[in-house]
Amino acid sequence: MQILKTKAALLKQVAACKQKEKTIGLVPTMGALHEGHASLVRRAVDENNVVFVSVFVNPTQFNNKEDLAKYPRTLDRDADLLASLGVDYVFAPSAEEMYTQEEMNTTFEFDFGGLDQVMEGKMRPGHFNGVVQIVSRLFLLIQPQKAYFGEKDYQQLAIIHRMVKIMPELQSLDIKIIDCPIVREASGLALSSRNERLSEKEKQIAVNISHILFESRQLTQSQSVKEVENWVIEQVNRVEGLTVEYYEIVDQSTLLPVTDFSHAIGCITVYCGPVRLIDNIKY
Ligand code: PAF
Repeated sequence: MQILKTKAALLKQVAACKQKEKTIGLVPTMGALHEGHASLVRRAVDENNVVFVSVFVNPTQFNNKEDLAKYPRTLDRDADLLASLGVDYVFAPSAEEMYTQEEMNTTFEFDFGGLDQVMEGKMRPGHFNGVVQIVSRLFLLIQPQKAYFGEKDYQQLAIIHRMVKIMPELQSLDIKIIDCPIVREASGLALSSRNERLSEKEKQIAVNISHILFESRQLTQSQSVKEVENWVIEQVNRVEGLTVEYYEIVDQSTLLPVTDFSHAIGCITVYCGPVRLIDNIKY
């Protein structure tokens, strides 16, 4: 496995792969890898001749400087895991390699069609702009046939599907976005790099989030969407140590509010102490 730090080194390897007509799979990450990422990588290794994994803590998607500073950076450990999974190339550039100062300070132009106006987009203004900026750049540099993303960040996934459909530079690349299911601990807790910031006690508390989401499935026969939303919020807030930021049951494609449970997904954000956790459940 090779670790590439510059765009020039990356482009050289991509060109060599293309020349040999190898299919390329890409797994974009911000590092601090866990079993959730490993599941995406295993699938990419299975389905492609060559796999690139990007490890880049993307500054333009953080609207909170403290969150950016605290984001775990564990490249050596990540590289060991990726090598053991059979990855061919890790792309781990610096921020300066990816962005000019001007790009860092200007908003990336993209028509989200409203997908950025709800849930995470409402709570973290500019976040999805940064995501589209970096993922589109990685797609243009690496030009993979397939790119793998986890369903835990469901709104991000919906936006990336829209991005490959509507961005003219990407349309011709015909990149297939592969949605990969949430990986959970045996307890039910959705795996996340942020879990590293939870104490053992907080982890036990956080387990309630997924349990309550699973339980809410039982209510969909007898209760309305609004009632189920309110029930989830109330149950989670009742757990000492948890505070719901939002819980919204929306359409799986448009992310707009729904009136019934067909094609619906419930997306939640909860503070467990200072750590902001997200999860979701398809109904
Ligand atoms: O989901 C993530 O880890 C990031 O948002 C991504 C897609 C790697 C872009 O920085």
